[in-house]
This record gives sequence, structure tokens and C-alpha cells, in this order.
Amino acid sequence: MAGARPNFMKIAPLVHAINRRRDSGDTSIGFKIVHTGQHYDEKMSNAFFRELNIPAPDHNLEVGSGTQSEQTGMIMTRFEKFLQENPTDLVLVVGDVNSTMACTITAKKLNVRVAHVEAGIRSGDMTMPEEINRIVTDSICDYFFTTSEGAGKNLVQTGAKEESIFFVGNTMIDTLLYQTPNFKKPAFIPTEVKEGDYLVLTLHRPHNVDDPQKLRGLLESINAELTRHNVRAVFPVHPRTRGVLSKMDVTFPAIYLTDPMSYLEFMYLIKHSRGVITDSGGVTEETTVMGIPCMTLRNSTERPETVTVGTNELIGEHHDKIPAKVQIMLEGGWKKGSIPALWDGKTAERIVDILKRL
Ligand code: UD1
Repeated sequence: MAGARPNFMKIAPLVHAINRRRDSGDTSIGFKIVHTGQHYDEKMSNAFFRELNIPAPDHNLEVGSGTQSEQTGMIMTRFEKFLQENPTDLVLVVGDVNSTMACTITAKKLNVRVAHVEAGIRSGDMTMPEEINRIVTDSICDYFFTTSEGAGKNLVQTGAKEESIFFVGNTMIDTLLYQTPNFKKPAFIPTEVKEGDYLVLTLHRPHNVDDPQKLRGLLESINAELTRHNVRAVFPVHPRTRGVLSKMDVTFPAIYLTDPMSYLEFMYLIKHSRGVITDSGGVTEETTVMGIPCMTLRNSTERPETVTVGTNELIGEHHDKIPAKVQIMLEGGWKKGSIPALWDGKTAERIVDILKRL
């Protein structure tokens, strides 16, 4: 099952690992891909399937956008019908988006086993829809594949059986390492943005972008500090953020807004940057592995190893912390990180081995 942009990088290596086995004659494991349609724009979905060589989904539930409950309810209704018509031994869900939780509930109600890839991570922030998705998914699924030892401890604390928890590493990093030679220069980067001398900015969390005043405060602060240092930022804008920005009558000359980028373009952009300002969780994992300085505009993270081991620092959601931190980033004083255990590019192979055993 996959539904939203960050899911696609997580399923790609699993699909390839299973296909490799089937190509070498092992037909004991197979799959169907169900896309819920939570993300549907060409640049939020199809581009990722193409670049990551994921076969077209066997079925698309085409749910589209809606409120939290509308989207969840629609996925459940349509996925239930799909499962009734296409019985399966196991549903594999990834990440923490609404599609992850909705498909897990649906499968369990039909007594189908569920495996969760990226299980056990917790931010402790119950105002984020993703935290609710994580808790609900992990409270009813059968098998837990984790990206860190800490995630496994969280699961044990909430009653999961140790023998159903498997610390395997990070499938998103499998994709990153496999695709590194294929990163490609984004089609449109203005000439003022010099390779190796810009920051990357991404903002899409409801907390940061839904209130226009707050979003404006963040962007003004980043813009002012960049201007002071004569550095530019490239900001591929998520559709949710674009909607809010389009109603604002203000410009940020040091920040170049672009459409959402494809995976290979966005990874190129990060790899050649001086640092990243973000509120994404996945991006903090990618910058950690690439050794790129990263500041997160959130108060909490469900991925603490990106802070304790990696290059990420949480600086909160208020713009007052931004200038000093951007200065450190641009003056080269950012901490150096290392790579968390088992984020080695072999996670999908471990998962498929375990699935076959199960
Ligand atoms: C979702 C995930 C979030 C993840 C993010 C990555 C949940 C609760 N949130 O947030 O964890 O980090 O994806 O992008 O599942 N839209 C489009 N085109 C699309 C998709 C969305 O225009 O292809 C617009 C719609 O106006 C939609 C809004 O973006 O209402 C939000 O989309 P939604 O999937 O609800 O949540 P995201 O903010 O993308």
C-alpha cells in the first residue's frame, strides 16, 4: 500500500527486492501495489513511480484530498472493497500518513495480517495527524519493521511482543543510496543560485503553513538573514503551502519558489546545498545520510537519531531562533553527524527475508 509522496521512496526497494527474487525463480512471494490516491498531482505521485522504477499500481483507490476524516473514511471504504475482491495473506503499510492508518484498520477488520514498515517512531505531539496515525497503526498491526532501536523500545512499552519487532534499518535510505548516481540537476534553477552556495527550504506542516501570519513570519525571518549573507534559498513549494502563499501579497527576494521537484532533482538540490531548513521528517533522514546541515522548524521529532547521531537540530516553530542558526549554518559551524545503525542500503532485503520466514 502507498498513498502519499514519502511512501513511494519507502516501497520502491521492497518492490525491487521481491522482483529480484521472482526473477531468480523464487515465486513464493509476490505482491500487488495499491495506491490510495491521497497524493495525485503528477509531481507528487507519477513522477516518483517513473523515476524510482516502481511498476504502475495494480489498483488506484483515487480518494484525492479531503478533511482528515473524509480522506480516512474514503480510503477505508474503497480499500475494504479491494481486499474483499483480492484476498491476500498480508498487507504491508509504510510510514505514517493517513493512508497508512486507514489501510491498517481496514485490513485488520477483515482479519488480514498487517506489517508496518517504519513502525514505533513517536514525536509525542498528539496535535500532529501523523502521531495519531502511528499510534493507531502500531496498536493493531502484527509485524513491526523499525528504523532504530529506540522505535523498538517504544513498541515494547506499548505492549508489542518482542518477537514481532524487527530492527532492519531504513528503506528510504535504501532508495537514497541506490539512486545517488542518478541524481539529476533540477531543470530550472535561476542563475543567481550558485551550485554549492545556497540553502534548501521546505515547509508543509499544518502547524507552520496553515496560518498565513505564521508562515509569513518564518519566511520574512529566513529572507532577512539570507539577504544579510548574500545567499539564496530554493524552496520547492508543496501544494498545501502554495495555497496559503497564493493569498499573500508579499515577496521574499532571497527565496526562489519552485514547483515540487521530482525525487532525483530534489536529492541533487540537497546534495549540492550548504544546508537545509525544513519541517519534514524524511528530509532530516536524508540530510543525515548525506552529511548536510539541517535545521527543523518543529518542537519535536519522531526521528531522534537524526539529532543525536545525524546533522539535524530542532529549533522550534518560532522565527526568533532562525537568524542565529542560519548564521552558524552559513559560517560553517554546524555539527558534523554520522550515520545511524543499519541505514546501509540493505533494509529491503532484510525485510523480504523476514516476510518469507513469517
Ligand atoms: C501528507 C502527510 C504528511 C506528509 C506529506 C508529504 C498525512 C496526515 N499527512 O501531508 O505526513 O509529510 O503528505 O507531502 O497523511 N494536494 C494537492 N495535490 C496532491 C496532494 C495534495 O494539491 O497531489 C493539496 C490538497 O489541497 C490537499 C493538501 O495538499 O488538501 C494536503 O494534502 P494531504 O495529503 O491531506 O496532506 P499533506 O499536507 O500532503
